[in-house]
Amino acid sequence: MRKLVAGNWKMNGNRENLLEIKKVSDRFSGSDVDIIVCPPFTLLSAAKEIAANIFIGAQNLHVDNSGAYTGEISADMLEDLGVTHAIIGHSERRTECSETNDVVARKVKTALKKKLNAIICIGESEPERKENKTLSVLKEQIYGSLKDITGTENIIVAYEPIWAIGTGRTPSLAEISTTHDSIRLNLLEMYGSSASNIPILYGGSVNGLNASEIFSVANVNGALVGGASLSFDTFSPIIKAIENKT
Ligand code: PGA
Repeated sequence: MRKLVAGNWKMNGNRENLLEIKKVSDRFSGSDVDIIVCPPFTLLSAAKEIAANIFIGAQNLHVDNSGAYTGEISADMLEDLGVTHAIIGHSERRTECSETNDVVARKVKTALKKKLNAIICIGESEPERKENKTLSVLKEQIYGSLKDITGTENIIVAYEPIWAIGTGRTPSLAEISTTHDSIRLNLLEMYGSSASNIPILYGGSVNGLNASEIFSVANVNGALVGGASLSFDTFSPIIKAIENKT
């Protein structure tokens, strides 16, 4: 299983911030970790040009490949830029843009057709967690978001508890272990043994201090990082932590 760290810049970053991506690319050239940075659409092209040693990903894409969809970006356009990954179904899009599991599944299908790696986000809300619904919510999201997806190639799952995103709070290591094991089981149920190769990332307030212990958990194959991915100084300790995972 390859180790993987993805940075989600969300709606942050101007051209002056491209230097942070270049520094990551230069410092981790030849690393055995797949490093992906997902800046806003406006920076994708420039990021691709200055960061030859890492992968550049998008934060979203449209279900269709072209057409009368003002303001949207297609998988076709991302492929044209040399973008290799796309985050799909991030909780902020599920909440703010009403993206259902069904929409997510259609976007995953579109991405896979273009050979883009789909980073599919799932995660429970705080009330769902309090009601002990975490594992059932995740199972529903996994089955729904991968509906009609027949193979495991180019699929990455990111478990991001919504209450842990941007809050500085993280689940205990025991909770991360339980959820990641459960996600793996769900994927094995769906796809058989080939599901053991699907990377499962943890996301939600990962930083340089907690990354090593999170990566020590079985079935945690990497991280999806928000705030801490915005600068080289905060992102690189996380990449080093996964490099050290045995
Ligand atoms: P965070 O965000 O690392 O800032 O908590 C993670 C994410 O939303 O992907």
